[in-house]
Amino acid sequence: MLERYGHGGDLRTAAESFGLGKEQFLDFSANMNPLGPPACVGDIVRDKWMDVIRYPDPVCRELVRTISQHYDIPEASILIGNGAAELIDLLVRVLKPNVIGIARPSFSEYEEAAEKAGSQIVDIPLRERDGFVLQQADVEAAIQQTDALFIAHPNNPTGRLVPSDVIDTITTACHPLILDEAFVDFLPNEKEISRIRQAAINRNVFVIRSMTKFYSIPGIRLGFLVAHPDHIHTIKQHKIPWSVNFLAQEIGTAVLQDTDFADRTHKWLQEERQWLTQSLTGLGLQVVPSDTNFILFAFKQSEEMNVKIAQNRLGQLGILVRDASLFSGLDNRYCRVAIRLREDNERLIAGLTQIMKEGHHS
Ligand SMILES: Cc1ncc(COP(=O)(O)O)c(C=O)c1O
Repeated sequence: MLERYGHGGDLRTAAESFGLGKEQFLDFSANMNPLGPPACVGDIVRDKWMDVIRYPDPVCRELVRTISQHYDIPEASILIGNGAAELIDLLVRVLKPNVIGIARPSFSEYEEAAEKAGSQIVDIPLRERDGFVLQQADVEAAIQQTDALFIAHPNNPTGRLVPSDVIDTITTACHPLILDEAFVDFLPNEKEISRIRQAAINRNVFVIRSMTKFYSIPGIRLGFLVAHPDHIHTIKQHKIPWSVNFLAQEIGTAVLQDTDFADRTHKWLQEERQWLTQSLTGLGLQVVPSDTNFILFAFKQSEEMNVKIAQNRLGQLGILVRDASLFSGLDNRYCRVAIRLREDNERLIAGLTQIMKEGHHS
């Protein structure tokens, strides 16, 4: 199983499983921007490596200022973290809700953080028959039963945004809401869709952002939390000092100013998402329409093909996909793939075509 250590993008496990070198794989199992990282990342690593002899700024002043200007939110409402993963853990640990509602299937770190904090979990189901879109009635029911809700916007692995009126229902009810917007920057109208401006002033809204996907820097680790300044002040006191390293701070500051990279990404994604969605549909797969840079699809129910067989056969061809049946709420028809550059996407489609034909004849 490729996800032995919990997530996609584990090339070391892939190399051990399929007997190929790490560099021989096309990785569709982690959702990174294939245009990245921006060139400034290489420049910073090359030019500033000697500065690692000093401790990083513990409060990331330069990066906080840049984020504040970029999104037009107060500096006091921002906390930088070692990836969104640190902030998910930290925030749940500090809020410590007795009962937390999680919209699932979703990223497994939410339930892990809740379990570590001793919170009881209430499921908010995202259903196949609703196209995995969060439903108003389910949210209303969850508000009655919980102290806080944890929802991804857009969600992983389904790729769907939360309808704006559903978010409004939660905020109008003054119910604490954590929104994970790790993939929202892939939307060209990010600034309208994101709730970070609301989070900066509303005591019940917390927004977690990742910078690792859009800028393809998961190995650097960088994310931020936006919340009311009083909350940020409290949460800061529970954070590990210097968790955000010097290079991450420099890189975060530089990439946010690279508007050309953002424009190219939005243009590539719009074209390529349409192409890959149509190509997967053309193979007879059931495709969930995506609002972001990865696609969830289902194989037809059959003896010959499911995601575990597909992951294994594609892996032998050097193509890695995510077994989405490991997300609670999905069965073994479900597979998730990142959207990559055309040539790579063509190899994915060719690989799927081949294994589905073989499946038919075996
Ligand atoms: C929905 C979601 N949130 C957060 C994260 C963690 O992001 P980071 O690399 O910033 O820790 C991931 C990583 O896959 C994710 O899918």
